[in-house]
Amino acid sequence: MTMHVTAVENYKGGTAKTTTASNLAYELSCAGYRTLLVDMDPQQNAAYLLRAKPRKVNLENAITMKANVKKAIQRCVFSKNLFLLTGADGMDSLELNYIDLRFILDECREDYDYCIIDCNPGMTMLTVNALVAADDVIIPLVPDAFGAAGLEKIKDYIDQAREYNEGIRVIGCVATMFNGRASQLRTIRKIMEKNVIPVFDTCISDSEAVNTALERRKPISLHRSRSSAAKDYKDFTKEYVGRVNDGKPE
Ligand SMILES: Nc1ncnc2c1ncn2[C@@H]1O[C@H](COP(=O)(O)OP(=O)(O)OP(=O)(O)O)[C@@H](O)[C@H]1O
Ligand SMILES: [Mg+2]
Repeated sequence: MTMHVTAVENYKGGTAKTTTASNLAYELSCAGYRTLLVDMDPQQNAAYLLRAKPRKVNLENAITMKANVKKAIQRCVFSKNLFLLTGADGMDSLELNYIDLRFILDECREDYDYCIIDCNPGMTMLTVNALVAADDVIIPLVPDAFGAAGLEKIKDYIDQAREYNEGIRVIGCVATMFNGRASQLRTIRKIMEKNVIPVFDTCISDSEAVNTALERRKPISLHRSRSSAAKDYKDFTKEYVGRVNDGKPE
């Protein structure tokens, strides 16, 4: 299979984009898929969580065409199938064209099964680059009224990206920091009833193990394999693979 590219994106900050992108990428790699995690966020949180080493040649050099992208990729210490393309904190001041990320990822299409892009919050040229490079988008959201309202905005941005990337689709939004309380369930039901954005069946439980895994700089299933969030990210990864491949020939 040629590389399938998914952007993990939400206009809103703090919705578990990085946690979801990093753990999804790690779980995909454990399932045997060669996976590339691209950290497009100048905060470089995914790079931190997955213990990427600073490199002379990084995403910033690759995306500005100053270096070959393959030279900027490093293997993740946690999995032989997981590779990292990480940047630098000045990335938000780069002058980019909307197509630049897509262009460099084209070089890697035959090397990986999946590419997961962790995006910055807000909508900048970096996020536009991710949406133009992606086959589809996962939207992690905290299921409350603010989260639901923010969905409209991200949906508009994805619609705008269609001008440059006709085929982009929202594979689904995923409820994160899920506590099962009535207000969260109501919010999820409302999003489902609107029927505009698909919703993953798997919700990611609110779990302190996610925060301690971040402290330890580890994927959740390596840190606390029996925690609810570790199980949820495994289920979520299976559901993601199923949704990506739904309707594709074997
Ligand atoms: N399921 C969860 N249970 C408890 N805490 C969580 C969960 N998911 C994420 N968090 C915590 O929420 C915070 C924000 O998570 P994360 O950095 O993944 O969000 P983000 O959307 O990437 O943020 P940003 O918009 O800044 O990029 C972190 O402290 C993280 O540990
Ligand atoms: Mg983040």
